Amino acid sequence: MRILSGIQPSGRPHIGNYFGMMQPSIALQNEGDAFYFIADFHSLTSTHDPEQLRRNVLDLAIDFLASGLDPEKATFWKQSDVPEVTELSWILSCVTPMGMLERCVSYKDKIAQGISPSHGLFAYPVLQAADIILFDSNVVPVGKDQKQHLELTRDIANKFNDRYGEDLLVVPEPRIRESAATVPGLDGRKMSKSYDNTIEIFEETEKKLRKKIMKIVTDSTAVEDPKDPTDSYIVQLYQLFATTEQVSEMEDSFRAGGEGYGYYKQALFESIRDHFAPMREKREALLQDTGYVEDVLAEGAKKAREQAQEVIERVRSAVGIRP
Ligand code: ADP
Ligand code: TRP
Repeated sequence: MRILSGIQPSGRPHIGNYFGMMQPSIALQNEGDAFYFIADFHSLTSTHDPEQLRRNVLDLAIDFLASGLDPEKATFWKQSDVPEVTELSWILSCVTPMGMLERCVSYKDKIAQGISPSHGLFAYPVLQAADIILFDSNVVPVGKDQKQHLELTRDIANKFNDRYGEDLLVVPEPRIRESAATVPGLDGRKMSKSYDNTIEIFEETEKKLRKKIMKIVTDSTAVEDPKDPTDSYIVQLYQLFATTEQVSEMEDSFRAGGEGYGYYKQALFESIRDHFAPMREKREALLQDTGYVEDVLAEGAKKAREQAQEVIERVRSAVGIRP
C-alpha cells in the first residue's frame, strides 16, 4: 500500500494541520510505503517572498520531523526536487475539464475573499492530482477540506484511464479521520492560517500558548450556572488531547456549573502543553542540526524521484510523446 500526503509551507503548522494531516500520516508510516512531501510549488500561489519560502520549507521540515515523521520509515522530500510532477501536471491538465476546476470550493473561497486569481491558483488541484498520481498512491491522509481535491484527483485519473487505457493510473482514496475532520479555531470557524484563529503546535512560549487559549470564544454564561458542553470549542479541542474519562469529567463539570470558562481553558492549556512537550524538545535538537534536516530531504528526493520515473515513463508512452 502506497500512502502519500503533502503540506504547503505557508506558515507554522497548527493543531488543525497536526490532527488532520500530520498525525494520521505519522501513524500510517508503520502500515505501508509512506511518501510525504512539502508542497513548495503549491505555496507559490500564496507566498511571494523568496526568503520567507525558503525559511518556511526548513521550518516545516523541522516541525514535521519533531512531530514524529521517521525518515527511516517514510520518504520525505520537497515537491520541487521532483520536477517530473510539473510535466505530469501539464499532461493531466489536458484531460481535465475547465468546469471541474471552476466548481472547486477552495478556489471559489479565495475569490470570495477578494483574491485576484492567478492561473496557478486555478490549476492548483491539477498539480495536486499529479502529486498523488505520480507515485501510484493508494491512500491519502488529509483533513476534510481536501475531500473535493481528492474527488477531483479520482475523476482526473479515471478520465485519463478512459482515454488512454484502463488501469494505467492508480485511483486513490482519501483517508479522513472523523474525530479530527475539521478542528475548530479560536473563533469556532475551521482552524486555518487564513483566518488568524490558529493554535500553532509549537507556539514560541508557554505564555503565548496560554494567552491564545484564553482567547477561545465562549458564551457569557455566569460562573455558577450550568453550561452546555455540546457546542463548546473548549471541549471540542480538549477531546483531541484528553482521555475519554477526562472529557466526560469536563462535560459533567460543565453541566454542574460552578466553574468559569477560564478554569476549563486552563485544563486545555495544560493538556496541549504536555502533549507537545517531548516534540518540542526534539525540535530544539533539530534546530541545532539543520544540516541533518537538509540531508533527510535530499535523500528523500532521490528516492522519490526514482519512484516517479516509473509512472512518468508509463504516462509519456501512453499519451504518445515517447515510443
Ligand atoms: P490552512 O487552512 O491552515 O492553510 P492547509 O490548507 O495548509 O491549512 O492544510 C494542510 C493539511 O491540514 C490538509 O490536509 C488539511 O486538510 C489539514 N487541515 C487544515 N486545517 C484543518 C483543520 N482545521 N482541521 C482538520 N484538518 C485541517
Ligand atoms: N492542497 C493540500 C493542502 O492545502 C496540500 C497538498 C498538495 C496535498 N499536494 C497534495 C495534499 C497531495 C495531499 C496530497 O493541504
